[in-house]
Amino acid sequence: MPNIVIVGAQWGDEGKGKVVDVITPHFDVIVRYQGGNNAGHTVVVGREKFVLQTIPSGILHPGRRNIIGCGVVVNPASLIDEMESLVQRGVSLDGNLYISKNAHVIMPYHPALDRASESKAGKHRIGTTGKGVGPAYADKTARVGIRMADLLDEQLLREKLEYNVKQKNRLLREIYDAESFTVDGILSAYLRYAGWLAPYITDTALLLHNWMEAGSSVLFEGAQGTMLDIDHGTYPFITSSSTTAGGACTGSGVPPTRINGVIGISKAYCTRVGEGPFLTELHGETADLLRARGNEFGSVTGRPRRCGWVDAIGLRYAARINGLDTLAITKLDVLDACDTIKICVGYKYEDEVLTDFPEEERIWHEAEPVYEELSGWKSSTAGLRDYEDLPTKAREYLARLSELCGVSISLVSTGPVRDETILVNDSTLTRWIPSLRSSLPPH
Ligand code: IMP
Repeated sequence: MPNIVIVGAQWGDEGKGKVVDVITPHFDVIVRYQGGNNAGHTVVVGREKFVLQTIPSGILHPGRRNIIGCGVVVNPASLIDEMESLVQRGVSLDGNLYISKNAHVIMPYHPALDRASESKAGKHRIGTTGKGVGPAYADKTARVGIRMADLLDEQLLREKLEYNVKQKNRLLREIYDAESFTVDGILSAYLRYAGWLAPYITDTALLLHNWMEAGSSVLFEGAQGTMLDIDHGTYPFITSSSTTAGGACTGSGVPPTRINGVIGISKAYCTRVGEGPFLTELHGETADLLRARGNEFGSVTGRPRRCGWVDAIGLRYAARINGLDTLAITKLDVLDACDTIKICVGYKYEDEVLTDFPEEERIWHEAEPVYEELSGWKSSTAGLRDYEDLPTKAREYLARLSELCGVSISLVSTGPVRDETILVNDSTLTRWIPSLRSSLPPH
C-alpha cells in the first residue's frame, strides 16, 4: 500500500476531512504534519458530526494510529478538550494517538500577540483565526519556541518561559497596550497539561520509521490549503506553515523517498476565509446561494466564508507545487442550483492574459478573471454514488476542470456523509487502493 499525502488545493476548507475519512480504513497510520487548532476538519460519521482541530481524522477509525507530527503547533488546553470530548463520545485514544516531542507549543502569549497585532494592523490585517498560530511559528523560526519535550522538563521550561515572558510582556504592554503574563501562572497551567499529555508525547519520527519498515502504510493529512502556504501561498495573506505536500516530510520526519503519491482536494467552486486576494470572488446573489447551499461558515470561528467560482489557474498551480497525482472534487451538489457555472481560465493584467499563476501580490489584487462559462445541470446530484448517474453537464464540467488543471479526478463528493461519494472507476485512487469501494457501504 502506498504512502499518500492529502492536501488542500485552494485556501483550505476543501473538505479534506471527509476524503481522509473515506480512505483512512486502508491505511495503518494517519499523520497531521502542520498547522494547529486554526484548522477545523469536519467529519460526519453516521448521524454524528465531529470537528477535529489538532487530532488527525483517523482517530474516528478504531485501530488506526494517529500522529501529531513535529510540524504542528499544539495548544495543549485545546488538544486536551478535543481529546476529552472524543472520549466522551466513545472514541478510544489508547494506543491510537502520539504527539511529537518536537512539535512546538502554543503558549498563552501567542493568541494574545496574534489578536493584538491584528487589531493594530489596519489594512495589513490578515484575518487570522486568532489562535496564536502565526506567533508560535514565528518563535519556532526565531529559535525561542517551546517544544512538547520541553513541557516534560520543568527546569528547562521555566528557563525558556522566563526569557519569553519578559520579551513578550514588553511587546504586549509597550507596543500593543495589551494584557501581560506571569511565568508562574503559565508554568503551573502548562505543567498540569504536561502531566495529562505525557503518555502521548514521544519520538514520532522514529515510530513512523519503524512502522514503515515493518510495512505500515501512512496517510498524511494536510490542513489549510496550498494558497495559504508560507512559501507558495498568497503571501502575506497566508497561514504560517507549509501546507503543501513538501510539508508532509519536514512536518513528520518521513523522507521524500518514502512518499508515493499526492491527492489534491478542491471544492467544485471556491471559498476563502479571512483577508487577501481572491480573484474569482463573487458578491450578491450567487455568492449567497453558494454560501447557503454549501453551509460556508468557518468550523472554528463561525465566520461566513467568501465564495466564488473555481480558479483553474490556481488549481493548475496547486497541481505543480504539490505534484498532484489526482484530484478529489467536493461539494459538487452545491452547484446543482446554478443556471451557469464559470471556471477562471486566465488572469487579465494590463494587456496580458496570464495562464500561469503569478507570484506578484499586485497582480493577485488587480488582475481580472477571464472566465469560461458552462451551462448548469439544474438537477440534484446530492448523494449520487455513480459517475454514470451524474447529469451530462456535470460530467462535462468535471472533465473540463480536469483538462484545465492537467490532473485526473478520482473522487467526487456529493454530500457530507461518507457514502455520498463517487469513486471514479479505474482512477489513480482505485488503482492505489483497489479495495477502496469496500470502505463505502454497498448501494
Ligand atoms: P492563522 O492560520 O490563524 O494565522 O490565519 C491566517 C489565514 O489563514 C487567515 O486568512 C485564516 O482565515 C486562514 N486559515 C487558517 N486556518 C484555516 C483553515 O483551517 N481553513 C481556512 N482558512 C484558514
